[in-house]
Amino acid sequence: MLDFSFFNPTRVLFGRDMLARMEDYIPVGARVLVLYGGGSVLRNGTMERVRSGLTQREMLEFGGIEPNPTFETLMRAVALVREKSVDFLIALGGGSVIDGAKFVAAAAVWDGDPWGILATRGSEIRTAIPLAAIPTLPATGSEMNGTAVITRADIAAKRVFKSEHVFPVFAVLDPTLTFTLPPWQIANGIVDAFVHVLEQYLTYPADAPVQDRFAEGLLHVLLEVADTTLAEPENYDARSSLMWAATLALNGLIGAGVPQDWSSHLIGHELTALYGLDHARTLAVVFPAMLSVRREEKRAKLIQYAERVWGVREGSDDEKIRSALTLTNEFFMRLGLGIHLSDYGLGQGDVEALLAALERTHGTCALGERQSVTPDVARAVLEAAL
Ligand code: NZQ
Ligand code: ZN
Repeated sequence: MLDFSFFNPTRVLFGRDMLARMEDYIPVGARVLVLYGGGSVLRNGTMERVRSGLTQREMLEFGGIEPNPTFETLMRAVALVREKSVDFLIALGGGSVIDGAKFVAAAAVWDGDPWGILATRGSEIRTAIPLAAIPTLPATGSEMNGTAVITRADIAAKRVFKSEHVFPVFAVLDPTLTFTLPPWQIANGIVDAFVHVLEQYLTYPADAPVQDRFAEGLLHVLLEVADTTLAEPENYDARSSLMWAATLALNGLIGAGVPQDWSSHLIGHELTALYGLDHARTLAVVFPAMLSVRREEKRAKLIQYAERVWGVREGSDDEKIRSALTLTNEFFMRLGLGIHLSDYGLGQGDVEALLAALERTHGTCALGERQSVTPDVARAVLEAAL
């Protein structure tokens, strides 16, 4: 096992009645700003439930945070926080709103141009306004981690920052808040969580059986609940399992002490920045091609994945790997996600544009658990995804 320092300060309030308990964890006298997205929480009654849970606190609202939240929109929230001396934020929505709130929390008390937060990937953040998260979409795990992904529309850049200062103080995980999600967003959430586990699991063996078994357990649960939670959106048990699995997939636990890849995510971010594809759809395109191109490098873990997650016991090692790749692709397609760039009308010319964008973001840095994803490998991956 690799050395690690594991830190996760987020309190989780899980269940259908836990919104009513959140005020216990918000300082008395706090001036609270609730941030939300395009209005789903207004239409489906979730905002009303939050308002009635915040009877003892002064509450302001800021809406309009878009999917793949933009710096431009968030800076308007920063101005409001400063003007009204807001001292507690609640993110009510999907990963985009939660990520956006993390940026606002840090930017409102940042000295200088807040784009510096992204330019330094969060390393210079010294303080932030406390925030809480109420996720309405099980997918990103943002509700229990210190990561955010922010887009700058004017330069089509999507950048990540991380800081211990922006972990939510608490997260209310109420599966009933996700009942109104359209099936394609649930499918996105399943794929995003699935790939989060694999980015931390499908690397190389690190003598970390605890992390491996946890990761395999999460993958099994995602495979088991996928069909039910899609077919029965109000099945509380299935939705609970999805929600908790998505949170645990990226709260740091399974990634502590093991190598991590994330190259598919970083290439996927460029696909969203340039063409607006949903985050999970970028993963369904890039991740299968990444595994296919790097199958030798990931050989040992791919065989373990085939055997333990997909139950492939017959055949040679190469056949097991082939089966695991095919089964993974079929799973994504069964959920309705395209696994080729051509499914989104993209072709060779777009590969060139994506490689140029990747270079603008990362220079010639090689990505992945062994820094083997050079620009040439990224090209091979994108061409394999055509
Ligand atoms: O904006 P509203 O009107 O609320 O509608 C949203 C949005 O259009 C809708 N939605 C959310 N909850 C709903 C609902 N509609 C009906 N009923 C509900 N209960 O869903 C749409 C998509 O929301 P969004 O927040 O964009 O989706 P997601 O949670 O997948 O978040 C994606 C963002 O998270 C980033 C991605 O890059 C992307 O920007 N990620 C953040 C990570 C992190 N912080 O650790 C890791 C991830 O890998 C990912 O990169
Ligand atoms: Zn993701």
